[in-house]
Amino acid sequence: MAISKVGVVGCGLMGHGISQICAQAGWDVVVREEDQAALDKGMGKIEKQLGRAVEKGKLEQSEADAVLGRITPTLDYADLADSDLVIEAITEDLDHKLEMWRELDEVVKDDAFFATNTSSLPVVAQADATNRPERMIGLHFFNPPQVMPLLEVVRSESSGDDAVDLGFEVGEKLGKTTVAAGDNRGFIVNRLLVPYMLDAIRANEQGVGSIEDIDTGMMAGASHPMGPLTLADFVGLDTLAAIADVMADAYGEERFAAPESLRQKVDAGDFGRKSGRGFYDYSGDQPVPVDAGS
Ligand code: 3HC
Repeated sequence: MAISKVGVVGCGLMGHGISQICAQAGWDVVVREEDQAALDKGMGKIEKQLGRAVEKGKLEQSEADAVLGRITPTLDYADLADSDLVIEAITEDLDHKLEMWRELDEVVKDDAFFATNTSSLPVVAQADATNRPERMIGLHFFNPPQVMPLLEVVRSESSGDDAVDLGFEVGEKLGKTTVAAGDNRGFIVNRLLVPYMLDAIRANEQGVGSIEDIDTGMMAGASHPMGPLTLADFVGLDTLAAIADVMADAYGEERFAAPESLRQKVDAGDFGRKSGRGFYDYSGDQPVPVDAGS
């Protein structure tokens, strides 16, 4: 099936980036948010990214205008009705996702495909909440979607071959490196990356190293672009804790459990970079480590 219009649900950390790259690929995009403020914030980020690309000479102003012109922000699911593919990028909460898919299933045309950008939740449970389980797959993007080359294409027990083939075609059109991942908790990358970030948090709790030294250690010692605690802030501590809970429940292993200091930060509303504070404080020019108790 040829795609010309993509619906994106959620215009947050991932949704705004997914909307941008889909529009850059030439598709018309309708992006839906729950409230106007969140929608404006996400659209503002897209404008800013496109503006930077123009400043750097990577995009003509006319192309940036055209990309922006292909994105329609909305608060109404009905505006996604004639989408060929709908990608969801809302919060990592199964009940919210199921409710959203049931609503979308009612309004979106029957031959459209559905894709979830879940980091850890079962694709099959979401597929089975709709009347088109064979048309649902996982398309797992990485933050920031504009930059990270990978797309995990997840086949659930219910996915049909057409949906899986479409997932790989979408990846190719977006210029992504694709891998086939099973519908297990965390797929491939988060299955390995999440326990690594959690272990870095535990190492800090146990006094193995300071926040800065753990990050510097992994950057200078293993050539990672970001240290694990900076990465945790970048992913979002609320998201990381939600993934940890799903994985701890599924695998029953202590290494997947959310450490105490992660829970405390989430409870305090310190979600990392997006809220301005997490393992680092982002209120100044440079991030400053937030030591325990401060
Ligand atoms: N949004 C869009 N573009 C961004 C961006 C953002 N948030 N941050 C950086 N960029 C772009 C810049 O514009 C620049 O583009 P250009 O090459 O066209 O000029 C390019 O990325 C490089 O940016 P910078 O030079 O400013 O910074 P760095 O070289 O330090 O790169 C980074 C930034 C790409 C974020 C790099 O630090 C990195 O790769 N970090 C690791 C990110 C990672 O591991 N992501 C996966 C997280 S796990 C996940 O997402 C799964 C989920 O389910 C939890």
